[in-house]
Amino acid sequence: MNTNVQPITASAVDTALDNACKILHCNLSDFTDKFQDSNSQNNFYPQTDNVEWTTGFCTGEYWLAYEHTADEAFRTAALSQVDSFLKRIEKKIDVNHHDMGFLYTPSCVAAYKLTGSETAKKAALLAADNLIARFQVKGQFLQAWGELGAPDNYRLIIDCLLNLPLLYWATEITGDKTYSEIARAHTKTSLANLVRDDNSTYHTYFFNPETGVPMRGATQQGYRDGSAWARGQAWGVYGLALSYRYTKTPDCLELFDRVIGFFIDRLPEDLVSYWDLDFKDGDGEPKDSSAAAIAACGMLEMAKYLSDEKASYYTDIARRIAASLASCYAVTDIHLSNALLLHGVYAKNSPYTPIPKDRGVDEANTWGDYFYMELLTRLSKDWKIYW
Ligand code: GLY
Repeated sequence: MNTNVQPITASAVDTALDNACKILHCNLSDFTDKFQDSNSQNNFYPQTDNVEWTTGFCTGEYWLAYEHTADEAFRTAALSQVDSFLKRIEKKIDVNHHDMGFLYTPSCVAAYKLTGSETAKKAALLAADNLIARFQVKGQFLQAWGELGAPDNYRLIIDCLLNLPLLYWATEITGDKTYSEIARAHTKTSLANLVRDDNSTYHTYFFNPETGVPMRGATQQGYRDGSAWARGQAWGVYGLALSYRYTKTPDCLELFDRVIGFFIDRLPEDLVSYWDLDFKDGDGEPKDSSAAAIAACGMLEMAKYLSDEKASYYTDIARRIAASLASCYAVTDIHLSNALLLHGVYAKNSPYTPIPKDRGVDEANTWGDYFYMELLTRLSKDWKIYW
């Protein structure tokens, strides 16, 4: 790691959180009944209904803002969105995929933990039921997308590690071990197949639908099948930390060091990676600021379970990433953007992947905003985790 970026100070964390909360407060009128689209257009989020995999992040930001400011306006808006999440899962609106954790953890599990809302609890448990219905016995994994059992979609994806805390929470709330057993089985399959010998990760992995035998790794949003999509590697980092939190499996500790090591070794000078870890300074490719925020949250989570020496090594890097994000990527003027964190990539076209898919390139995205705020919150206090 070659950088001049210094670790963020406590007062800079506080200022950055204050700025974020000011922007979110201005957003309340546009984004309470409506949600933010997944990514900005020219740095401004359009409104959307409660669809796709990303709307829970807006609600999660309101909960983090409520924790920071104690402003009831954030609590009221977040609870109103919780009602929308209950309706969404009851009516099964756009929930035919695995991203129940991304949707229901920062919104409804957070609401339940912070307020005891029974509506939130009901919604999150229904979402957990919806997620476990995607478990494939042949292969032992949660199928990410598409029609269940379809050969062209018989695969898991690394992002799903962040959907699993919803299942551990559901077991804790109901006493039914089915949820956590499925989470453990999916984790085992993911870790056995997604991490390559050189410590980079596959984005997705296909299985044989007849036998469950692992077939091949592939990318959906990375530059090429054999590269490390930056956000995928970051989901791996945070996913391993969360998996260790809930399972205490020693494999997670070893794999964490390997996967974060690969990520750190490829950080550019300002510590915010390019959208795929194939790229470095001078290649002319866009950054994905969200990957930096996610990986830094993962380092701070795993630091809780490590020796003092390792914990301070990872905490120091997370503080440097936070400094870079707060000083060079965060929005400070609401007139320039209604987002919190600029310069992310949702998906970028590549000569090696079949689908033309440029979307949200060098734009803000809602998960980047959320994990940036979570990172600052983690640095500001002993945060009680939503995941
Ligand atoms: N989970 C989808 C993404 O990271 O774009």
